[in-house]
Amino acid sequence: MTKLGIIGAGAVGFAVGYTAARMGIVSDIKYNDIIEIKAKAQAMDIEDASAYYPHPVKMSYGSYKDMADRDIIVTATGDLGGVKDRLEEYVKFKDATRDYVKEIVDAGFKGIFIVVGNPCDLMADLVYRTSGFPKNRVIGSGTALDTVRLNTSLSKVLNVDPSAIRGVILGEHGESQFVAWSNIFVNNLKLEKYLEQNPANFSRDAVENLVRERAWRVIDGKQHTQCGIGSAVCSMIDSIVNDRKEIILVSTLLNGMYGLNDIYLSTPCIIGKDGMEKALELELTPDELEKLKHSEEVLKANRNKYK
Ligand SMILES: NC(=O)c1ccc[n+]([C@@H]2O[C@H](COP(=O)([O-])OP(=O)(O)OC[C@H]3O[C@@H](n4cnc5c(N)ncnc54)[C@H](O)[C@@H]3O)[C@@H](O)[C@H]2O)c1
Repeated sequence: MTKLGIIGAGAVGFAVGYTAARMGIVSDIKYNDIIEIKAKAQAMDIEDASAYYPHPVKMSYGSYKDMADRDIIVTATGDLGGVKDRLEEYVKFKDATRDYVKEIVDAGFKGIFIVVGNPCDLMADLVYRTSGFPKNRVIGSGTALDTVRLNTSLSKVLNVDPSAIRGVILGEHGESQFVAWSNIFVNNLKLEKYLEQNPANFSRDAVENLVRERAWRVIDGKQHTQCGIGSAVCSMIDSIVNDRKEIILVSTLLNGMYGLNDIYLSTPCIIGKDGMEKALELELTPDELEKLKHSEEVLKANRNKYK
């Protein structure tokens, strides 16, 4: 019987709550938003579909303090509001995020934070430091969504089901992310081996740019991205709730791995009942390691600049 809290009842918060209810992975969802009427409306709207969920889900509004009894809290606060730079959201929302995380923790929250609000690596870092929780209990959604986007894009050019692709996007969930081409598999075949048997004409750069720009193309058309992130976050919730030990690319505190230190960045992690249970290190090329270092530098520079 899992209790989920969602801070930020916007497009992403809604998608997470609705997807969780449809999947039947939580029994109780509490929404918070600075616009209280909006949080109540999202809760009611999701409750209206109760007859179609696999299990009953209790829906309600809650203050930050009311979130103390939750097992998992997803932070989906922010507001793109026409910006094309996730860093602007950090400058605008970091203090408020710090304040509400402190209030929730002071109220006695003992569960797991999943941080989605952007820039999610820096925000996860901020939630980790503010909460004082061990790193396994603060997970950034990182490049989980970007990796799903890569799998979808590759599945189209290779003409296979997206579930057959095991792609990896590393670096920040942002402009300095990159495809780790050395680690792409189609089923159990390395991408190069697959292409020897099934030649396909595509440019790696074009695929990479497509994935990077996809969020902005969706936002240009409908102001928000929802389905991909809602599903990616719910795969994390499912893995925690059911102790599935799924391996998902999430942002976690890296210390030593890839030569990086004291920074939240994505790597494949085992997700189970204790949250981020183990981070795994991929074998990367020198060029990929350099790109990762660049992401670390970008994040650290911004963390120092906007304390
Ligand atoms: N990590 C990812 O992969 C990913 C993907 C998509 C969106 N996002 C990010 O998620 C965040 C939410 O996106 P969205 O499209 O739902 O935006 P949105 O504007 O639809 O919703 C954000 C909500 O947060 C609320 N809010 C702001 N500050 C708050 C606070 N201090 N306490 C409670 N509520 C507060 C706002 O009132 C609003 O309802 C953004 O930062 C966005 O960039 C991340």
